[in-house]
Amino acid sequence: MSDFKIALIGAGAIGQTHISTILKQPGFSLVAIADPGLNAAEIADSLQVPWFASHKCMLDSVQPHGVIIATPNELHVDVSIDCLNRGIPVLLEKPVANTVGDAMRLVEASEQTGVPVLVGHHRRHNPIIKAAKKLIDDGALGRPVMASVSCALMKPADYFQIPWHRERAVGGPFLINLIHEIDLLRHLYGEIDGVAALKSSAVRGLDVEDSGGALLHFRNGAIASIAISDTVAAPWSWDMTSGEVERFPAHDALSHYLCGTEGGISLPGLQLWRHDGNISWTEEMTKLSCTYQSGDPFAAQLQHFGELIARTAEPVVSVREATRNLEIVMALHRAAETGQTISLG
Ligand SMILES: NC(=O)c1ccc[n+]([C@@H]2O[C@H](COP(=O)([O-])OP(=O)(O)OC[C@H]3O[C@@H](n4cnc5c(N)ncnc54)[C@H](O)[C@@H]3O)[C@@H](O)[C@H]2O)c1
Repeated sequence: MSDFKIALIGAGAIGQTHISTILKQPGFSLVAIADPGLNAAEIADSLQVPWFASHKCMLDSVQPHGVIIATPNELHVDVSIDCLNRGIPVLLEKPVANTVGDAMRLVEASEQTGVPVLVGHHRRHNPIIKAAKKLIDDGALGRPVMASVSCALMKPADYFQIPWHRERAVGGPFLINLIHEIDLLRHLYGEIDGVAALKSSAVRGLDVEDSGGALLHFRNGAIASIAISDTVAAPWSWDMTSGEVERFPAHDALSHYLCGTEGGISLPGLQLWRHDGNISWTEEMTKLSCTYQSGDPFAAQLQHFGELIARTAEPVVSVREATRNLEIVMALHRAAETGQTISLG
């Protein structure tokens, strides 16, 4: 296949990141945009690609090799199924759906049709994460025991003018941001089998949470804590430090601390801390800055999507995998609302 023809459904904030990724990527071209918004029509016009108000009209008029879906969450499943029923592979933004029941409809559709779906947990394609995963798999931490994650962000007031951003259990940082941490920690440490949580909406006073804390128990016995807020002016989050999305500044700060019996890794700097001799808190540790080949995770994700279109690979993040992430986020909401620790089996 010479050029992968990609159509985009939903040209909002992240949709525009996908557009610039497609435009920069050799071997890929943008062939159409579907989005009822006038801004999307202007973007399509400026790029000289056809614009459609309805994704169904677009799918009936254009024959893309693959579709990227970056609509509001509630449309993810139905729009994806419309693509799968036409045999078109999908790169679907996270979260896979707003509810686990809805996500399961897509699991069934993707498994019945056999048409590939990749869910956009793009961090898995980040070279820093790939290097951290290799270090952990090669034993740099010894046995993974603990992780501490900070997700500190400030979303501006106009973000909350979009109605679904104010909706409880839909638009808040648990489902929008923390789900990336769940995917990442499952990728690095293995399956999560229990959660506890607290959440608060004290600052904005909206239905949706603005801050929270999550405790995760992994099947291997490791424990992780995540402190999250989208109403704090602080740089200690992956988004504010990793530099992977152009619209967010990349501060010289850290967000993730991964700790095991023999060492620790901090991210996104990819520093490895270990003892040279005795492993003891009385002994000084050495910090090694690990090297990796930098690269754009959205470009790598798109490249992987091309492999799925060509049927030469299986999705790195399948719908089933992304549905597990959603189950865990929903369990965190239940845990916070009931005060119970939730076992996930
Ligand atoms: N991977 C990431 O890091 C990341 C980052 C941001 C957002 N997201 C996800 O991407 C999705 C979009 O988020 P966003 O922040 O870009 O939202 P947004 O509100 O900026 O954009 C959504 C776009 O979808 C369009 N839309 C609405 N109804 C539509 C329809 N029926 N057909 C086609 N388009 C329609 C809107 O007009 C808008 O342009 C969400 O699911 C979000 O969780 C992922």
